[in-house]
Amino acid sequence: MVLNIAFIGFGVVGQGLAQILVSEAESLRRQRGFEFRVVAIADKVKGSVYDPRGLDLTKLLALVERGARLDEYPSSSKGLDSIKTITDTDANVIVEVTWTDLRTGEPAMTHIKTALARKKHVITTNKGPIALAAKELLSLAKKNGVQLRFEGTVMSGTPVISLGTRNLAGCQIRAVRGIVNGTTNFILTEMERGLSYANALAQAQKLGYAEADPSADVEGHDALAKVLILANTILGGSLVKDQVPCQGITGITAKDIQQAKAERKRWKLIAAAALKESGGVEAYVRPEKIPFEHPLASVSGATNALTFVTKYLGEVTIVGPGAGQAPTGFALLSDLLDIHRTLAK
Ligand code: HSE
Repeated sequence: MVLNIAFIGFGVVGQGLAQILVSEAESLRRQRGFEFRVVAIADKVKGSVYDPRGLDLTKLLALVERGARLDEYPSSSKGLDSIKTITDTDANVIVEVTWTDLRTGEPAMTHIKTALARKKHVITTNKGPIALAAKELLSLAKKNGVQLRFEGTVMSGTPVISLGTRNLAGCQIRAVRGIVNGTTNFILTEMERGLSYANALAQAQKLGYAEADPSADVEGHDALAKVLILANTILGGSLVKDQVPCQGITGITAKDIQQAKAERKRWKLIAAAALKESGGVEAYVRPEKIPFEHPLASVSGATNALTFVTKYLGEVTIVGPGAGQAPTGFALLSDLLDIHRTLAK
């Protein structure tokens, strides 16, 4: 089965997947029988292209690299907007990688609903719609007999969603707790090394970790979106964002960091969700002082870590990249391979 892929959005993350597809196409075909065609790309700023015979990703990446528009690519059809790219092309997998809006989830929410209603599989790294409406979107996917996968919404390509929803299914997960925002962890690490807050944030932006609006990172909203995704897709919760107390790192000064160090502790932005005794799920995001000897204290830079507290395995902790172009591009590839694997059956 050949997957016909359309990208909605072609920024850092979309290009990250495209680069991996270019590099690995041959090995994926040989090792996994994974055959694909990228048939369309629609980007609000860069323009759009569509060719049912398949597009040359190397050429498209080169165009974008030199700042040219995608429309300069010679193809059979140009100028389809994002909705038409979903509805009027023969793509059967939609890669939704537009910008994240944690307030409304748009425009990704509409893209995803449109694609699922048209019986197209969707993979996304977009936290907005999944944080706001995971259950609704998953049931829409189910109703239409297609898949919605979102591995890259939490900890980029480090597979916490697969671990929580598939590998640990049946293990009675009672809580999750960890560091799920790369930008703030990077800033706290660099501040401990003596860099100012402003310089550390500028570095995180330069390295592609931060959100387009970095206040989403430093005020904890990105971590809040991720803990909502974990609570609602792994712990079976139905939390909405106003039910989750959220505090970011903007109140932490260089002095606080040095003081914690003198106590052999380190500030970390912790996101946690747990089943309540009385039923339901509770969650929070807040900075906590973690003792040096605790495993989370040594998770530094843009690295993330998440501990699953389970009945049958006790604690299971996964540590890995939480942001960045290649790790997030890989998250999308892992979703594509999962879809391919299930369809091949
Ligand atoms: N801004 C996010 C972070 C990107 O720093 O973790 C990955 O979701």
